[in-house]
Amino acid sequence: MRLKDCHNFQDFRTLAKRRLPGPIFNYIDGGADDEVTYRENTRAFDRCDLLPSVLRGVKDVDMSVTVMGQKLDMPIYCSPTALQRLFHHQGERAVAAAAEKYSTMFGVSSLGTVSLEELRQKHKNPQVYQFYFHKDRGLNSAMMQRAKEAGVEVMMLTVDSITGGNRERDLRTGFSIPFRLTLGGMIQFAIKPMWGINYVTHEKFRLPQLDEHVDMSGGASSIGGYFTDMLDPSMNWDDVAAMVREWDGQFCLKGIMTVEDARRAAEIGCTGIILSNHGGRQLDGSRTPFDQLAEIVDAVGDRVDVMMDSGIQRGTHVLKALSLGAKAVGVGRHYLYPLAAAGQPGVERALGLMRAEIERDMKLMGVTRVDQLTRANLRFRDPVAARGEAHRNAA
Ligand SMILES: Cc1cc2nc3c(=O)[nH]c(=O)nc-3n(C[C@H](O)[C@H](O)[C@H](O)COP(=O)(O)O)c2cc1C
Repeated sequence: MRLKDCHNFQDFRTLAKRRLPGPIFNYIDGGADDEVTYRENTRAFDRCDLLPSVLRGVKDVDMSVTVMGQKLDMPIYCSPTALQRLFHHQGERAVAAAAEKYSTMFGVSSLGTVSLEELRQKHKNPQVYQFYFHKDRGLNSAMMQRAKEAGVEVMMLTVDSITGGNRERDLRTGFSIPFRLTLGGMIQFAIKPMWGINYVTHEKFRLPQLDEHVDMSGGASSIGGYFTDMLDPSMNWDDVAAMVREWDGQFCLKGIMTVEDARRAAEIGCTGIILSNHGGRQLDGSRTPFDQLAEIVDAVGDRVDVMMDSGIQRGTHVLKALSLGAKAVGVGRHYLYPLAAAGQPGVERALGLMRAEIERDMKLMGVTRVDQLTRANLRFRDPVAARGEAHRNAA
């Protein structure tokens, strides 16, 4: 199987699985606990159907959107993810370049493996910096200042990771940074030698967003240690309100799931919120962002840009989310498997296929602009959900 044989999410996943040592593949592929939420994230899209209109003259489609002041040529962006150079030696460089090719936004994680400054200098598409809140307030200010000076457009604070999710696949393989592999995990690396050759023949692994501020050289200072020792589990709305004031620009919270929290985010001056359950990697048994989307759009959609991520694999998933009122959607594994499978050409192919799917699906739906997608385009199968929808439409 080669890159040209990859036509959809599952194909890229299969190729990534062939290329990566098991522990790394499972780090990307896994979720928390029993992975119920992880599976539901994508299934949620199958609980409703699209209703196409015909004969609308759909020759030219404009799928651009504006979110948090950033114009994106397509309504999906690359959500920030950790450790990308472990998946392919090009890492964030490949993702940023592919996102630039399609003129969309990309996120750089606090646990990213290429510096936010390098990426900001090289690329002109909008960049998000994903932030975790540290106990040391001085460190928070210094890191925000650094992102400001680099010219990062959007600050994104992840709020669903107040403690690490229980990823049992990683416990079984011994995946952690630094590696503490089980025997089974080591064997998995031994049977994929190309990964190891690539790893040792390319630039040394680093976490440049952190290593200037935090000693991540090993022992207690592992990523696990970073979460338990450095991050602040007492973070509250007042802390975030102070951060929003200090940043004084586009600021969004990633991991909002309730109407009450969405309202508070709007009140403290956030310009965006992202409904997310971290791709099913944090609280298993939590609701899917797609199921929760309409409620939150109705409550705050006129005050903040509402986005969602988790579970998106298809153009039709994007159209369904936009029909419920999302301004744009984020993807994680959708570009991570292609990255692992083939580096930058892989990510470009995945984004290109997604763009083509969205365009084709918009034409088949009889719309030429994203704002023509409305709830009238959707029908929920479950009569209870449908009643809720009817109620909302009437209100
Ligand atoms: C391997 C991996 C690493 C991730 N790392 C981060 C991270 O460092 N910060 C963060 O806010 N979200 C992180 N996420 C969550 C993504 O930003 C996004 O919310 C999630 O992947 C969306 O779900 P999807 O993979 O089903 O598209 C990560 C997700 C994956 C799969």
